[in-house]
Amino acid sequence: MILLSAKTLSSSPFLLRSSPHPQNPNPKPLSASQALPKSEYRTERGLTFDSGNSFFRHESATGRDLGVLAASLYKKSKGSVRVLDAMCGCGIRSLRYLVEAEADFVLANDANENYGRTILENLSQGLGGSGEERRWVVTHTDANRVMTECYLRRDFYDLIDVDSFGSESSFLRSAYNALKLDGLFYVTSTDGYTSGGHRPHHSLASYGAFVRPMPYSNEVGLRMLIGGALREASVLGYRITPLFSYYSYHGPVFRVMLRMNRGKLPENRNYGFISYCTKCGNSQAFSWNELGRISCPCSDAKVSSSLVVSGPLWIGPLHNASYLTEMLNLAEQWGWTGNDTETHLGKLLKQMIDESDPKLPFGYIKLDEVASRAKINSPPLRTMMSALNKEGYAVSRSHIASNAIKTNCPMAVCIRIAKELQQC
Ligand SMILES: C[S@@+](CC[C@H](N)C(=O)[O-])C[C@H]1O[C@@H](n2cnc3c(N)ncnc32)[C@H](O)[C@@H]1O
Ligand SMILES: [Zn+2]
Repeated sequence: MILLSAKTLSSSPFLLRSSPHPQNPNPKPLSASQALPKSEYRTERGLTFDSGNSFFRHESATGRDLGVLAASLYKKSKGSVRVLDAMCGCGIRSLRYLVEAEADFVLANDANENYGRTILENLSQGLGGSGEERRWVVTHTDANRVMTECYLRRDFYDLIDVDSFGSESSFLRSAYNALKLDGLFYVTSTDGYTSGGHRPHHSLASYGAFVRPMPYSNEVGLRMLIGGALREASVLGYRITPLFSYYSYHGPVFRVMLRMNRGKLPENRNYGFISYCTKCGNSQAFSWNELGRISCPCSDAKVSSSLVVSGPLWIGPLHNASYLTEMLNLAEQWGWTGNDTETHLGKLLKQMIDESDPKLPFGYIKLDEVASRAKINSPPLRTMMSALNKEGYAVSRSHIASNAIKTNCPMAVCIRIAKELQQC
């Protein structure tokens, strides 16, 4: 693959240079309020920036932390990292990739040209020096167009960040095309309504998965996103593997960091169907060739009408535990893990590492569901976890739901243990 240097890039006719005034081949007149964006100064991880009139959420700081840690690890292992921030908003992500991950180059793009002045001011904070060896460039183009233009120029990136609202599935293919092999794709969806199973034909169109309501729908949202990304990658002869998957209730926001290599759809059980039995509360996974034989052990019938089935989805691990451990070590080194910091990053990363135990299946069990099936009050989470451990089951908390556990213990046994705990 031919890589263009920042020098070549900055002289590209496609790109707007990081000059004091953004240029646009088709400039539109700005209204008075747009021409003068109001300033709104904020601080994140010690960096001051202006969010101006842009779409900005301070709750997304953790998502930005995770992206920056991954970019920094990439740079440490490969020697350099070039980032394409396809929907940069005010440019805070690009700024953090440049300053904290020491990215060698960032292409900061947002379709909204009214953010131009804000982005330029944020990125001008002493970064990249002057001259032609600019470390960053700002463009105002549709994300698909900017990524496709990079692909056509054979200007491939190490990390592509697509922080969209709604569904991101229409950006997958152009992102893969512009990504280097072994590169990282950080993708976001805010489509909680679809992952909740309320629009199965929409999830089918966007992710190729028929998704129905399930008690662990927010984990299904991550699995739907990874599954859709996996299927789209396979069209181009690539395979993706999740390094981490992060759900946050604000939005809600589903974020996954995927590593892309050459390959095909996995033939193992990592991509398939899941079922939830409304009668007994058990969940199971099924591969494609088991499709005609989906039933729950709680019923004698060959086909159980109590089963809700969704898929195909990613049903493999949500995270790579050793990668998360490296992220945690780096976060500790940077002083990002103390409880007094603005996000509880250390706690989150530790929970994600715990839920990476290969013995744990997909989904989680809400203790309220155990209590309601057992007709008792909800048992305390820690007590329930240690009782399950004593009986030899794998168990962890879920970073997705606070009063829930991930476990390989069947629902019927959870109910029996919860009842016994109440009698103690
Ligand atoms: C969720 S916001 C980005 C927030 C930003 N990444 C951050 O961390 O603060 C999504 C951004 O995508 C931009 N956008 C929407 N559709 C786009 C498209 N098709 N191409 C490029 N940018 C787009 C919007 O203007 C908006 O700023
Ligand atoms: Zn059942």
